[in-house]
Amino acid sequence: MARKEDINPFQYGREVDLLVDREVELATVVRTAEHSGTLFFIGPRRYGKTSILKAAEQQLDEAGLVVLRYDAEAYENTRLLAAALMSGAVRKFASALDRAQTVARKFFAALKPSLSVDPADGRITVDLGVETGSAHGELPILMDVLNGIEKLAAADKRRAVVILDEFQQIVAEEGEKAERQIRAAVQTHRNVAYILSGSSTRMMTEMIASAARAFWNLGDQLHLGPIPREDFLPFLRTGLESTGASISDSALTRIVDLSEDVPYNVQQLASQCWTLLRESGRSSLTAPMVDEALSKVISTQHVAYMQRWLSLSAAQKQTLKIIINERADFQLAEVARRHGLPRTTMQRGLQALEENHFLRQEITRKGFQWRLEDPFLRAWLAEVQSQ
Ligand SMILES: Nc1ncnc2c1ncn2[C@@H]1O[C@H](COP(=O)(O)OP(=O)(O)OP(=O)(O)O)[C@@H](O)[C@H]1O
Ligand SMILES: [Mg+2]
Repeated sequence: MARKEDINPFQYGREVDLLVDREVELATVVRTAEHSGTLFFIGPRRYGKTSILKAAEQQLDEAGLVVLRYDAEAYENTRLLAAALMSGAVRKFASALDRAQTVARKFFAALKPSLSVDPADGRITVDLGVETGSAHGELPILMDVLNGIEKLAAADKRRAVVILDEFQQIVAEEGEKAERQIRAAVQTHRNVAYILSGSSTRMMTEMIASAARAFWNLGDQLHLGPIPREDFLPFLRTGLESTGASISDSALTRIVDLSEDVPYNVQQLASQCWTLLRESGRSSLTAPMVDEALSKVISTQHVAYMQRWLSLSAAQKQTLKIIINERADFQLAEVARRHGLPRTTMQRGLQALEENHFLRQEITRKGFQWRLEDPFLRAWLAEVQSQ
């Protein structure tokens, strides 16, 4: 087995087990779930939403609640998401097969459920008998499943928590009628808590912050910001010091600066710094070595960056470069004029870049500003275009 000091302490790419900071956010999710409330949990990509939801699931599980956590983006359509939710509910409320049969037939009757058991691990799966495209569309199926979970929780006297990650996907797929129907369900359910988490910040904000939309005032809101540096830097220091090297303050600041405080990027860059220290045997980490580590990261990601770059139109490329090089509080009309780009072209470019996850809008005191979803794109572009 590898010795503890041989294992890279920095994790990225999936939900982490060790959360830096986030106590308040975690407690808010857990509290809402325990009170069968509704929470909209919103944050930019790669800020750590799923990690918090996973930690909350563990705590709620231990507290005896039935937790159903699903990622809406992981399913091709709403029907498959609904089927997964129903399977999860039947499994968790009824672990024995004969009881699972009864539960499925009683609480999800309209969906014509059929049970199967995986012979390898005894895992129960429940399939939907109703067809899509019939009078029973996909959204009503999801509603039937949620209503079934409410009745099941009431009958079983065990509260349930439905956690839907990347929840905006359902509305993107099913349209605004999904908002109205989900609202109707959520409002009447007393035994199920709803944690609805979303990444696409602008879309989520429009959904819940507009008086004209169904989610207006439906539940509480939790907005996820960056991890405070006073918490992140000591974590980075401890992890990097496990190599035996001494770590300068300026190196640590350089890591979070280059990562623009996006937790994923911070961990990815710190991980590369750790490897660099290990492999080079150098006795200290300095700011220029952090730059060296970033070069390494972007060179391993080069093909992916290039593919994304090539997917852009000329006007979108130009717009992206402008955003990278301008001050954060730029004036659109003035900047477009200066770069000889029609204002509407730049506006359309920004919209496309947001939809394709190059850029995101961040709300500030003065309005909003454009940010890179992946801050390393800046260094990548600088590197390829300097050659
Ligand atoms: N509290 C934290 N402490 C340390 N690292 C974190 C924390 N939260 C997130 N990270 C880092 O960010 C990465 C992404 O986290 P996570 O998948 O939870 O984010 P997300 O907001 O759900 O992202 P996505 O929008 O891609 O679904 C993690 O793998 C980890 O490297
Ligand atoms: Mg996530």
